[in-house]
Amino acid sequence: MKKRIAVLASGSGSNLQAILEAIDRGEIRDAEVVLVVSDRKEAYALERARRRNIPTKYLRAKDYASREEFDRAAVLCLEEAQAELVVLAGYMRLITSLFLSTFQQRVLNIHPSLLPAFPGGHGVADALAYGVKVSGCTVHFVDEGMDTGPILLQEAVSVNDEDTVESLHERIRQLEHQLYPKAINLWVQGKIKLMGRRCVIND
Ligand code: GRF
Repeated sequence: MKKRIAVLASGSGSNLQAILEAIDRGEIRDAEVVLVVSDRKEAYALERARRRNIPTKYLRAKDYASREEFDRAAVLCLEEAQAELVVLAGYMRLITSLFLSTFQQRVLNIHPSLLPAFPGGHGVADALAYGVKVSGCTVHFVDEGMDTGPILLQEAVSVNDEDTVESLHERIRQLEHQLYPKAINLWVQGKIKLMGRRCVIND
């Protein structure tokens, strides 16, 4: 049986695309993306999914009284789709404990910095402004905090003197497109053991 993956995205969905192509190439084995959910109607991630006939769902924040209510609706969609793994790919909302209690150790996120440095919505800009010489990306399990969950994989990239937020983010994205499929495949193959905060990988 293929593992059923749902992807939550708010933006362009280049990571979603990389995941889909990795599945096509067999780099993520025995898995399929069964649903793409977005909180932004115009998110290009939704269009990418539609082009592949992957079911999509747009949830409008305004329709829900609280973050919990929003997440209750999201969880319902994910359960209906029988999602086993939830992959956040440029999803701009913090998820609640209601969501996490349903999908314990089954929610992954990718962040464009070497966590725990520069969490939050402006990781690339913050790292550049700080003046770091090395940055990168992090795949981690999601917990209640902002980019604070156990780290699964990280990859570094050098920061150049000429870098802008855009150029650095673009190089980090290229890394993300390799790293996220790799992390997802490890999860799908059952090769990750969580020991406290430490992810041990038996590859
Ligand atoms: C990525 O850089 C990811 O690290 C961050 O949001 C961005 C999403 O990009 N969480 P895309 O929508 O996958 O192109």
